[in-house]
Amino acid sequence: MTITIGILASGNGSNFQAIAQAITDRKLDAKIGCLIYDKEHAYVKERAKHFHIPSYFVDVKQYPSKEDFEKAIVEHLQEQNVQLVVLAGYMKVLGKTVLHAFPQKIINIHPSLLPLFKGKSGIKDAFEAKVHQTGVTVHLVDEGIDTGLILAQKTVSIDEDDTLETLTEKIHAAEHELYPAVIQNCIDGRYYAIRID
Ligand code: GRF
Repeated sequence: MTITIGILASGNGSNFQAIAQAITDRKLDAKIGCLIYDKEHAYVKERAKHFHIPSYFVDVKQYPSKEDFEKAIVEHLQEQNVQLVVLAGYMKVLGKTVLHAFPQKIINIHPSLLPLFKGKSGIKDAFEAKVHQTGVTVHLVDEGIDTGLILAQKTVSIDEDDTLETLTEKIHAAEHELYPAVIQNCIDGRYYAIRID
């Protein structure tokens, strides 16, 4: 049976696009139930329109507390019967309300080989550290920042002639390949840590 995923994003949405395209191309057997975004002008909403995927802007400013904000997110996800929550450039730290509503069912992609270079500027930090290799990581989401159980990683070399821009492009290309494949593995039950009912 095709499972339904819900995507949370804040910005450009190239990973959203890669996932939606993989579904269209039948490389990923899933349905995107909805996109939830928390920045009004995030380009990801245009991408959702293109794929005819329902999207909801949930604005933290409209809620008295983080808990209420997250309750609104959970309501949308549950309304669409989402079974797996996929963070794709979602820039807020998830709180207990969402985590408890989807235990062991939330994944994130991070642009470094975790546990190295956690945080908001993983690509730049690796570039400035002059390491020869960095990469991308898909992990389960827990209450920490980029700390959950690692499900899969893909390495990316940093070559002599790479600039931050070329490295960023290489990282995004790696993400777009890895994320749909990992989601399919989650669906197929290849990660014991993930539970999809
Ligand atoms: C990606 O680099 C992802 O690893 C990080 O945020 C970025 C989102 O990019 N978590 P996009 O919005 O999917 O283009």
